[in-house]
Amino acid sequence: MKVGLLTGGGDCPGLNAVIRSVVRRIANAGGECVGVLEGWRGLVRGNTRPLSVAETDALIGLGGTILGSSRTNPYKNPETDVPLLRRHFAALELDALVVIGGDDTLGVAVRLINDFELPIVGIPKTIDNDLRLVDFSFGFDTAVNVVVESVERLRTTAESHRRVIVVETMGRSTGWIACFAGMAVGADYILVPEVPIDAPHLLGVLKHHRTPFKNHAIVMVAEGARYTDPELLALEPRPFSHPRLGGIGASIAEIIERQTRIETRTVVLGHLQRGGAPTAHDRILATRFGLAAGELVLQRRFGTVVTLKDARISETSLNTSALANCPLDLGFYQDAATFFYEPHEPKTKE
Ligand code: F6P
Repeated sequence: MKVGLLTGGGDCPGLNAVIRSVVRRIANAGGECVGVLEGWRGLVRGNTRPLSVAETDALIGLGGTILGSSRTNPYKNPETDVPLLRRHFAALELDALVVIGGDDTLGVAVRLINDFELPIVGIPKTIDNDLRLVDFSFGFDTAVNVVVESVERLRTTAESHRRVIVVETMGRSTGWIACFAGMAVGADYILVPEVPIDAPHLLGVLKHHRTPFKNHAIVMVAEGARYTDPELLALEPRPFSHPRLGGIGASIAEIIERQTRIETRTVVLGHLQRGGAPTAHDRILATRFGLAAGELVLQRRFGTVVTLKDARISETSLNTSALANCPLDLGFYQDAATFFYEPHEPKTKE
């Protein structure tokens, strides 16, 4: 059996661990793997590389993806790119293709399955943790840990200068990273796309946060968080001509400083969250996802995608509804928000 592998969309810690584990599962069954370079672009252009156990065995802790990635969508130019992709797929004599990606990359896989019955098995990947297919995706834990480590560094300087520091995290449409990391660092406030920004409430919390025990504050904000108050919309960053996000942290910091007079700084963690070695949790999850996908390929159960529900790895049909977005579970947000409020502790008698 000859199996192609590709990684598409934004990269994510754990991708190499997945590659390693698919290669091993297929090789153990006597098959061979070939890497398609830079996501769907590699199939459109016919760019590949061999993938042996020897080449991939040491990859478990390596960040990024040795196959490279891109956001190429062959259906943007369907008359030219889709036929090229099919021609290269046939020329490579692939029996199966394992596609590792988020909703965009797997969305292309769905179309190729529907249009041409390509023998595809999908593996979900997202640091944002925004796919319903999985309770938690590999890469997410690593991202949360990067944010936690960074905020712990930021907290000491915030304390020295009695400042508010606004930390902007990734999370295009969901607040999983901001909420989980915020909870882990004991953030004073967390802003997520699922809950419209209530600036008066945020300012009220910050005005009262200074106590004899605490002179600084950490505000976490997911890049996709948005205002509802029309007066504040004017402070929103101008939309870019492309959908790249970022800037909400600076906007929030400006409001805080202007309204509270507390010196405020912003840090955008950006791609730091996607780089570097995966945590042990993500290495294990990625390894198990790869083995599960390899098994589906060997059983010729094409048109499926690996899932993680209630801590169990399984699979489901790879179709558009399977790729639905998964907003932050607001139960987590409410737990984190408990710590935004002033406690009504009984006053201790002198
Ligand atoms: O989709 C994952 C993600 O990490 C988003 O949180 C972020 O907005 C985006 O990727 C950044 O993508 P790029 O690497 O293309 O700038």
